[in-house]
Amino acid sequence: MIPLEITVVGAGYVGLSSAVALALAGHRVHLIEHNIKRLQALQSGQIPFLEPDLESAFQDCQKNICIAASLERSVKSSSLIMLAVGTPSTPAHSADLSQIFAALEDIVPLLDQTPRVIVVKSTVPVGTNAEIKAYLESRAPKAVVAVASNPEFLRQGRALQGALFPDRIVIGASEPWALELLRQLYTPLQDAQIPEALEQYRPEQAIPILEISPESAELAKYAANAFLAMKISFINEIANVCAATGADVNEIKAVLEKDKRIGSDFLQAGLGYGGSCFPKDTRALSQISLRSGYEFRLLRAVIEVNSEQRFRVLQQLEQRLEGFRGKRIAVLGLTFKPDTDDLRESLGVDIALELQARGAIVKAHDPTPLKLEQVDFSSDLNACLTGVDAVILVTEWDEYRNANWKDLGCLMQRKLILDGRNALEPGDMLAAGFEYLGVGRKI
Ligand code: UDX
Repeated sequence: MIPLEITVVGAGYVGLSSAVALALAGHRVHLIEHNIKRLQALQSGQIPFLEPDLESAFQDCQKNICIAASLERSVKSSSLIMLAVGTPSTPAHSADLSQIFAALEDIVPLLDQTPRVIVVKSTVPVGTNAEIKAYLESRAPKAVVAVASNPEFLRQGRALQGALFPDRIVIGASEPWALELLRQLYTPLQDAQIPEALEQYRPEQAIPILEISPESAELAKYAANAFLAMKISFINEIANVCAATGADVNEIKAVLEKDKRIGSDFLQAGLGYGGSCFPKDTRALSQISLRSGYEFRLLRAVIEVNSEQRFRVLQQLEQRLEGFRGKRIAVLGLTFKPDTDDLRESLGVDIALELQARGAIVKAHDPTPLKLEQVDFSSDLNACLTGVDAVILVTEWDEYRNANWKDLGCLMQRKLILDGRNALEPGDMLAAGFEYLGVGRKI
């Protein structure tokens, strides 16, 4: 392999996991983080968020990673500059590109005749690559610089695995020399020195590299997320039909997933999707389509189904409790999915606030230590369940799946559970003396 020197701007989930994966593959990585707290954590060998396997891998590849607050020193020696900064939603639901352009502002004075590629990893609307090119042409007309769109598809909770061994690598670039550099960057991933725990994920076949137009690369990321979100809303709709007809969504899932054309992933019915990507990216794609004169009706339905699903699921608990007012309810799981400490678009927080607004007395629990002002939070599961009239499982942490529900039930005023992720066995819960409510399950 030819080791490359690269700069990665932004040490969030995407930037940090990508930096670690590329360092494990033998490249020399400069990781730039403006946020002083994050920077200090990284400099002391810690990662600033919960992400399995990432911290030990980060420590393993220290010799190939250099952390800095600004990119002044690293751009000169880097052939690739990867932008992995946030692109949050604007109030109008499109992507806010201010962090991208702030990074470019810092990069521009450092560009010269040495060929460099600016690699856009952040999720950005179609046309951003062209916009960046035009910006660079006007601000640094003499610089030799290419722009490549290189979206990532990693999932929180398994981010390193996704950065090391993605199902595919997508590169949207026009200049052949830029494509060649990106091939040199990614080909060594296959043989990266990785933690033992991740060996099982190393693919046998070469990771496919798809070289497509920048516009297609930009849209492909949104398309992938929209499709997965569609699968979730689809199975949630089926669950709702199950609830109305007496069928069982898990039995239907078992039938669907045996069909190779459908596949088994993202068919877990529940309260709906949350997190830092699906809600933001589905809304952004809807906006991108509308602005280009096309209404993406299917996606609009996906988003609507998702925003209504939590209320639909809560309704059955409300009926069983004969209203929420004055009822003591435990909400289990506040992070948007297990194995993360991320609360962005967290259904747990939304549900806790909704119940409070409807007069319930809410206690919340999560296996990660969280600081929450709006909700009464306990890090002790027993204390959280003591004396409650009902419990809602919102995020399917193993701690809840493997809990001794018979003992926990003894602490509760009423043994009533709404399993918002269909994560528990109804038969076991009934045997433990619970009234069990699931999502589209036949009890
Ligand atoms: C997602 C995409 O999977 C990833 O490819 C992209 O790069 C970023 O967005 P992430 O948000 O980290 O990743 O988590 P994911 O595991 O996809 O779950 C997202 C949400 O969907 C969670 O709230 C989860 O509970 C929900 N979900 C997922 C379901 O409700 N049902 C499912 O079957 C799968």
